[in-house]
Amino acid sequence: MMTITAKINKWNPEPEIIFQAADIIKRGGLVAFPTETVYGLGADALNPEAVKKIYEAKGRPSDNPLILHVANINQVRELVYVNDVAEILMEKFWPAPLTLVMKARDVVPLRTRGGLDTAAIRMPDNPIALALIEAAGTPIAAPSANISGRPSPTDFESVFNDMNGKIEMIIDGGAVEVGIESTVIDITNPEKILMLRPGGMPREILEATLKTHLEVPDLQSKKRSPGTRYRHYAPNIPVIIWKRQEKFPDFDNAAYIGIHEPGLKISSSILFDDIKNFARGLFAAFRKFEKENFSCVIVEWPQDNSGISEGLKDRILRSASRK
Ligand code: TXA
Ligand code: MG
Repeated sequence: MMTITAKINKWNPEPEIIFQAADIIKRGGLVAFPTETVYGLGADALNPEAVKKIYEAKGRPSDNPLILHVANINQVRELVYVNDVAEILMEKFWPAPLTLVMKARDVVPLRTRGGLDTAAIRMPDNPIALALIEAAGTPIAAPSANISGRPSPTDFESVFNDMNGKIEMIIDGGAVEVGIESTVIDITNPEKILMLRPGGMPREILEATLKTHLEVPDLQSKKRSPGTRYRHYAPNIPVIIWKRQEKFPDFDNAAYIGIHEPGLKISSSILFDDIKNFARGLFAAFRKFEKENFSCVIVEWPQDNSGISEGLKDRILRSASRK
């Protein structure tokens, strides 16, 4: 397949590019597009044949449900049963890196929600993504636009690397802002809100708003968010975690990513000046170092617990996991 690529102006997206992409979505094709978190691989969420192509292009297990991306809050009411918690969060935060799992209505195809009775929904904070959803006139199902298991793409080149030849179009909207995926919470039971995946929206902000603790799902609910089950986010070279109080690992031809100098000679390193930039740059750094054939990449374990660090630590841990 010939993949069309189009560079677009983020703050003033050219209508002809948006229309071309929306037309592909309407006809059941796949378009990769930027969001504020990572690039998404989009299809018409209400068209099961289109959604099937997402799983094929990514090599993704079909029991792993997709997030439906919307451009306005009214669209949400057609897809799921909206409760009070949802009203508060949508009103206060959207568009944002916050995905809400709610009870699905029948219009959402089983294939989009991986056979579950719930659906995950979010409004992305990116003008290109919002314009595309609006023009397509349908919610857009979009996982991260990487081959399943690989680091999520945070710029055009990473998407092109994984998806060229497999999808109809890639929109180049430049590098993303957040760099890790949205926070996913299950709000189907307002008495017991579950943190399914930490991400771009910090836990403490949600907890302060809802005046409740976000619980970690037990095994039963883990089954309900299958995406958190698999090894994920990993480059083709091993990822080694370094905690600053421990001795720096001794590897030949290792690359390093972190905030602090390792205090040791290292072949190549990327130092970030704060935790936000660390999160923004992690996946691109993984892809850079695997391409340059380093033997492994050593990643500093962040010491912070607030803001984006819960999500960042989750990604680091899972990219280093062997299973
Ligand atoms: O930031 C993001 O969320 C990005 C951008 C493109 O929006 N998307 C993304 O999608 O990360 P994906 O498919 O890579 O991750 C979706 C996560 C998975 O962990 C999946 O299991 C979970 O959301 N999920 C989706 N629907 C669900 C549902 N009905 N119940 C529980 N978990 C669900
Ligand atoms: Mg993903």
